[in-house]
Amino acid sequence: MTQDELKLQVAQAAIDYVVADTIIGVGTGSTANFFIDELAKIKGKIKGTVASSEATAQRLKGHGIPVFDLNSVDEISVYIDGADEADAGLNLIKGGGGALTREKIVLAVAKKFVCIADESKKVKVLGKFPLPIEVIPMARSYVAREVVKRFGGEPVLRDGFTTDNGNVILDIHGLQITDPVAMENELNSIVGVVTNGLFAARNADVFLCGTHQGVQTLTAK
Ligand code: 5RP
Repeated sequence: MTQDELKLQVAQAAIDYVVADTIIGVGTGSTANFFIDELAKIKGKIKGTVASSEATAQRLKGHGIPVFDLNSVDEISVYIDGADEADAGLNLIKGGGGALTREKIVLAVAKKFVCIADESKKVKVLGKFPLPIEVIPMARSYVAREVVKRFGGEPVLRDGFTTDNGNVILDIHGLQITDPVAMENELNSIVGVVTNGLFAARNADVFLCGTHQGVQTLTAK
């Protein structure tokens, strides 16, 4: 099976977690795109969606799926999104596509988080994938120095990239993240940081992991 076939497999499995007659949160990235295309087939079953990025909103609208502004929504039944890395506790690194802030906001409103990814995203210790941090542009050098002072690693400015919120991304290479909740909280305390790509304080409830033997349904260990 190709990686795309593994992604399609988990996108199809995620349809079982869509709650009828509710608004659902939709993530960003290639795996989320497979999910959106599957969701289009059952779009009459849901009230609509909240999108975690402009790209996702465009794809949803292209399928004729209603997209609501989060400020007009009280409740999201489930949030479905991909990840860049997942550990056994279902703590994640996200933000490879740069949508981490809106992803975290939509997730905050959701009752349940179903993460969909192929097995290449499973790791023992988070950090091989560079940790994205969304930063207010004028603070980027300060934030980079603070990150190195507190955690080590090597911050690299994501070249030519601006987030949907008009900010920049620092990708921190070379981290070994053994306490993701503590690191997530401390990174958020650095002035100028908008969000970081650790999804640990609020981790995934279910991880649908695409393998060559089929979809594994994992919960936190
Ligand atoms: C975007 C994300 C994505 O979920 C993450 O990058 C995984 O993407 P893909 O499904 O393309 O591997 O966090 O900000």
